[in-house]
Amino acid sequence: MIRPILRYGDTVLHEKARPVDAITLDIERLIDDMVETMYAAPGVGLAAPQVGAPLRLFVVDISVGRDAAGLIVMVNPEVVERDGVQLEEEGCLSVPGFNATVVRPSRVVMKGLDRYGAEHQYDASGLLARAFQHEMDHLDGTLFVDRLRGIKRDLIVRKIRKLTRAGKW
Ligand code: NI
Repeated sequence: MIRPILRYGDTVLHEKARPVDAITLDIERLIDDMVETMYAAPGVGLAAPQVGAPLRLFVVDISVGRDAAGLIVMVNPEVVERDGVQLEEEGCLSVPGFNATVVRPSRVVMKGLDRYGAEHQYDASGLLARAFQHEMDHLDGTLFVDRLRGIKRDLIVRKIRKLTRAGKW
């Protein structure tokens, strides 16, 4: 089932999510819905808080469904290691219509559980490293907009406020 994606300003998006205690049927259903919602959007990643569930869980697929092996489910993810720097244009399904260049480490080693509770570790670089860190940020209540500085950030926040007041957000 495709779930509605919350937008910048919704409190769930701006709070720290809590760990998943156990992979219950509800969690499995949430994972399935998140995958379906991500592909339908379409997007390369989706975190549970974006569909209103304040849990440490995200899905990523940088092939957006083109590669059957591309789907990664991360429950209770942790950063093991990160290094380097990359600057790329970034967007977010919770901040539709806006993009900005965000500075991120170019490589990240991340571990987490899959939907069966088995631990996996990924050594990611480039777009996958970016996607992992963007989704990890969601679990800590941080959106890419929060990683911008000064005028760039103010401009986006001001436009969102204007859209909100006009009932278009
Ligand atoms: Ni996002």
